[in-house]
Amino acid sequence: MQSDMRLGVLRGDGIGPELVDSALGVLEAVAAAEGFAVRVEEVPGGAEHYRRTGEPLEPGALDRVRGLDGLLKGPVGLPDVRRPDGTEGGLLGGVLRTGLDAYANVRPVRLLPGVTGATRHGPGEIDYVIVRENTEGLYLSRGLGVVTPAAACDQLMVTREGVRRVARFAFELARTRSGAPSDGRHRVTCVDKSNVLRSYALFREVFDEVAADYPDVAAEHRYADAAAHALVAEPERFDVLVMENFLGDILSDLGAATVGGLGMCASGNIGATAAYFEPIHGSAPTIAGRDLANPVSQVLSAGMLLEHAGRGAAARRLRGAVERAFADGAVRLRADGGVEGGTRAATEAIVARV
Ligand code: IPM
Ligand code: MN
Repeated sequence: MQSDMRLGVLRGDGIGPELVDSALGVLEAVAAAEGFAVRVEEVPGGAEHYRRTGEPLEPGALDRVRGLDGLLKGPVGLPDVRRPDGTEGGLLGGVLRTGLDAYANVRPVRLLPGVTGATRHGPGEIDYVIVRENTEGLYLSRGLGVVTPAAACDQLMVTREGVRRVARFAFELARTRSGAPSDGRHRVTCVDKSNVLRSYALFREVFDEVAADYPDVAAEHRYADAAAHALVAEPERFDVLVMENFLGDILSDLGAATVGGLGMCASGNIGATAAYFEPIHGSAPTIAGRDLANPVSQVLSAGMLLEHAGRGAAARRLRGAVERAFADGAVRLRADGGVEGGTRAATEAIVARV
């Protein structure tokens, strides 16, 4: 009998609660099959929470999360919930990623059997991971930019230590994978615009220093514009990619389009002492509560959490169930990114295959 898993759950806004319900349903089925129990603790936060309390996250929540095996987070944000400066209230990227120092944003991009992406590739040909630096880069300027009535300025900061740790993370991750689909090589691609900006030149310099410690993993560079092209034209060449925060935000959405859309893409925000897992998409308030949303991004996020918590067999069981549900045609994507038959039916199809 394995020990219980202690799981934090932040349900979020819009479609968040229904997605989290779906993921918990799958997680409980997986845990039962693997012989462990899941103890769930609610972590209140998000836009609705901000509207009620004036805080994006319950005080003390960060410490609580550090003591758990992981946090499963639904998407947050509501267009009508605003802070006094006009930006959205209750967004948690700046709070959780910075507060937990979750420096590696891990975003697998994988085309499943039975899913049609936006390119002509088939299953097995797209299987890479974007590692997005998560605590600095352009988004460090969040809320700190200089604004006058005539202009606004944000700055992009890259630190040696920030690149060192995320590059190491990327190389370590590459060692655990089976390489790029095209040639089976373990490969880490550094994506930057070092031809234009000093900050990106530093990113590349530190990446190269780290790469020297991993002679068994191929290291290469792509400028971000060329990388955007290559991720569409020849995604099978990629294994692990590492990049600055803003570039990773954009290229991970591009990658999502090649594997069936944002609703297929999970992510993990991983630091040395805490981690949380969430879909890469937003809270889609216009379709909330209508049983339309694709739960797969949230379900696969729970799978990443299992892997991170050292429950590898459970993680494989969960991923296998999702894959079979698509391969069998039991879950089918709609052109609008939703799932045929609805969120609950898709969840049941996945649970039946656990
Ligand atoms: C993401 C999201 C967030 C980000 C938004 C909601 C602040 O787009 O996780 O990719 O840009 O980091
Ligand atoms: Mn994004």
